[in-house]
Order: sequence, then structure tokens, then C-alpha cells
Amino acid sequence: MKPSDIVNHILNNNAPLPQKQKGHGAAPANIALVKYWGKRDSTLNLPMTSSFSLSLSQGAETKVTASETDQDSFILNGKETSHNIFAERLAAFLDLFRPHPQFYFHVSTHSSVPISAGLASSAAGFAALVLALDDFFGWQLDKRSLSVLARLGSGSACRSLWPGFVEWQAGSDLNGMDSHGIPLDVNWPALRVTPLIVSRAPKPIDSRTAMIQTQASSPLYASWPDKVASDLTLMKQAIGQQDFTRLGEIAESNALAMHACMMSAWPPICYHQPATLEAMHRVWALRKAGNPIYFTQDAGPNIKLLYLAPQQAHVDRLINEQAEVAV
Ligand code: PMV
Repeated sequence: MKPSDIVNHILNNNAPLPQKQKGHGAAPANIALVKYWGKRDSTLNLPMTSSFSLSLSQGAETKVTASETDQDSFILNGKETSHNIFAERLAAFLDLFRPHPQFYFHVSTHSSVPISAGLASSAAGFAALVLALDDFFGWQLDKRSLSVLARLGSGSACRSLWPGFVEWQAGSDLNGMDSHGIPLDVNWPALRVTPLIVSRAPKPIDSRTAMIQTQASSPLYASWPDKVASDLTLMKQAIGQQDFTRLGEIAESNALAMHACMMSAWPPICYHQPATLEAMHRVWALRKAGNPIYFTQDAGPNIKLLYLAPQQAHVDRLINEQAEVAV
């Protein structure tokens, strides 16, 4: 099955012309507390396991119009970005939605999270784009269908359709129609996630390639699905009981296990910079001194701090003291 089959299915084989001059969409970035790492179908971005995230207050805002030229054009944070890998990925995704082959899009996105540094910018970007397309074409799709469409652009984007906690249920259908985000209706106003930036350099290997390499060669990967299943159950229990220590332990241990799988792949994948390790040691020292602060890390050198509001002063100090490294 191809992504275009899924789009035809969701849109009932009906590719309408735009219903508006301009479509608009906004979506939060999300940080996985239980990670998605590995695919069972790489064409449809179907994951090996379920995963679980928390949406941030930052994210992406996107406007879509018809292009006035005979090609797509992309503006990212005010800059023309039409000739790079990002633009190629977007153009391939937009191919799924052209009412006719000569229809081109103009897409303008403002992202309040740094791009390509493992800070979930692509998840927010694809989710905002799908919402903007829904508005532009007047599809009026439900959130689950939009989540499936966002997943075709970037797996983790399917969790960015909602604020708060979201589970991406792996599903079992071959066509992936049951593989989408589901929000968890729990409020935890004191919970905070703050990126600790050690580098803004683009990541050395993209997550798609890194996942394939890990699945193909890491001797530890066989244990990953069981680790995720157990972490997911425990994470939902911890959230139900508002047990922050458990939440922090599970999230940190899950991220470290994911990176252990990557490091044991061949060729090895190491997103850590020396400053990443330095930041981790600072978090562990703060914890030893009685401050419940934990971290998680995605496909990049930066870490995200997990804590409750009363720890804010310690976190601010940590961020101020952590120098960024130029790589
Ligand atoms: O959706 P992708 O291809 O950008 O992969 C995201 C992978 C991680 O950020 C490392 C984990 C996750 O669940 O978000």
C-alpha cells in the first residue's frame, strides 16, 4: 500500500479544489516521554511500537496558498527555503494533495522551535501543514484522520494534533488507519518540559535513516518493544497518580535505552556531544542534591528537562550555566 492510497481512502477519492484563498494551521511540538524508534512499514510510517508524548507550548504556524509560479515555494521563518532536503520532503508530501499535477503550493511556516536539532520541529511542521491543508481545501476531517495524514509526513507528527498528553497507538491494520494519536484527558498544570540547548547544529543523521540502521544492526533492538510496552503502562499509571518521580524515571530510562540501541548499531549512531553528557551529569548532580529534575533526549544532541514548577529556579540556573557548543 502507498501513501496515496491512504490519502484517497481518507478523502474518498475526491481531490477538491481549494475552497479558500489561504489555509491556516497551527500545531504544538511534542516531546515523547516513551519514544517511537523503529518502523514496521517505512512507506506508511507505521511504528514497531506505540509511543507517548507531551505537547509543548511552542510549535509551528503554517499558511498555504496556491503558488503563482510553476513550482512549489517554501518560506521557513521568513526565509526562502525551496532548494534543500526539507523542501524536497515537503514537496513529496504535497504531491499527495495536488488537485492536478500542475497545481503548486506556496507554504509559509513560522516555527518557534529550532529546526533539525532534535527538538520536534518536523512533527509540529507536518501537523500544522495538514491542518492548513484541511482549512485550504475545506476537507473538514476529524482529528484522527488528520493525525493519520500527518503521520505520512513524519511519524511523530501524528501526536502533534493535540495539546497535553497524547498516545500514538501503533495499531495493527496493514493500511495504518488505526495508527494515530489519541489524547489522554489529564491535566497536570505544574508539569514542565524545557529544552536545554547544547547545540543548534543540524543533526548528523536524520531520524528515518537512524531508525533503519538501528533496527537492522543493533543487538539490543530486540529488547526495545518489550521495554516500550512496559514503560507505556507504567507511564500512564504514573500520570494517573500524578507521581512525578515515576514519570521522570520512566522517561529518562526510556530515552537512555533508545540511545543505547543506537550506539550499539553499526555504524554506530551517537547524537551526544560532550556538552550533552555534561548536561546529563549536571542533572544527576542536582537530583542527588534533592532536586527532582529528569531529562529526555531525542534524535539530536539537546536534552529536554522534565520537572515540576517549584524547580524552575534550578532549571533556569542550569540553562544559564550550560554553554552551547559550536559543532
Ligand atoms: O517522527 P520522526 O521521524 O522525526 O522520529 C521521531 C523520533 C524521536 O523523536 C527520537 C522519538 C519520538 O517518539 O518522537
